[in-house]
Amino acid sequence: MITILCGGFFGDEGKGKVAGYLGLRGGYRASIRTGSVNAGHTLAHGGMVWRLRLVPSAFINKDVKLYIARGSLIRIDVLLKEIEETGVRERICVDRYSGVIEKRHIEIEASDNTLRSIGSTFQGVGAAMAERVLRRLKLAWGFKELEDLLCDSTTEILEMIERGEKILAEGTQGLFLSLYHGTYPYVTSRDVSAAGILSEIGAGPKHVDHVIVVFKSFVTRVGEGPLEGEISSEEAEKLGIMERGTVTGRLRRAAPFNIELARRAARINSATQIAITKLDALYREARGVREWEKLPREARKFIEDLEDSIGVPITLIGTGEDVEDMIDLRREKL
Ligand code: IMP
Ligand code: MG
Repeated sequence: MITILCGGFFGDEGKGKVAGYLGLRGGYRASIRTGSVNAGHTLAHGGMVWRLRLVPSAFINKDVKLYIARGSLIRIDVLLKEIEETGVRERICVDRYSGVIEKRHIEIEASDNTLRSIGSTFQGVGAAMAERVLRRLKLAWGFKELEDLLCDSTTEILEMIERGEKILAEGTQGLFLSLYHGTYPYVTSRDVSAAGILSEIGAGPKHVDHVIVVFKSFVTRVGEGPLEGEISSEEAEKLGIMERGTVTGRLRRAAPFNIELARRAARINSATQIAITKLDALYREARGVREWEKLPREARKFIEDLEDSIGVPITLIGTGEDVEDMIDLRREKL
């Protein structure tokens, strides 16, 4: 069965870290990445840090097979570089029907005023997606340099599910950047909801047993668009919640945790579990804590209040950069 991991705010909730942790401790046979190179997933493990735009974050477990989904859009240079950096060539495959972003797409976007006004990452993703919709985009099977990486990921994933194996689907961005469910027009060029992630893989709702929606302990947003309760960058700096984008290096705008958005994201994604990251940014003494009982009392109360108001079990709590800085309550709560 599939576990879907998706973002609940505006991306950058820490999906890479959670996916890395689940890769190590979730018993998954394979992990499949949807989305594209505009999304950067950061994960740190054992003193190393990776910023991945295509390779699934669960790669840190050498027993996990890796896939890039049919609905995703790749860039060949980015893919080959990441395969090199992560050493996964022997266990990754790219769906034959995934789309390929070329230099042309980046050039088209560079002069697009609408994209400028929404604060695009200008990675060519939207331009390539538009060509795909127009049936003009070249897919992975059309490129000689990808030949030995190609597979039919949909069939392989469905066969694993039929054998009773567990699959981790790593989505990108967050619900409020979804083309359909986000703050249009300040959104990305695909549906990044749990349903959109499934559609990109080629699996159905009945192949899913868990949907984990990831929220950070505060909200951030890069680029333009509404951000309720936004605080100044000086204030964010003072609170220790100042961040920069993984792909673009831009400063992230920040706001306190937003319960209303969280409830909506949990509902639309049909969340069965919630992961909260960066609890240590709000409660310094939570840093590196890996057991619930060892959290400071106010931090526990913060989590319990969130769980009450969202109405979905909070099973994973991030307390530091390393993927293993995690409080794992799955056994107690599920
Ligand atoms: P685009 O998808 O690169 O055109 O960007 C559209 C909007 O989505 C902009 O506001 C971007 O900042 C935002 N965006 C796209 N990908 C990400 C991401 O991975 N994290 C955070 N924001 C993103
Ligand atoms: Mg990111």
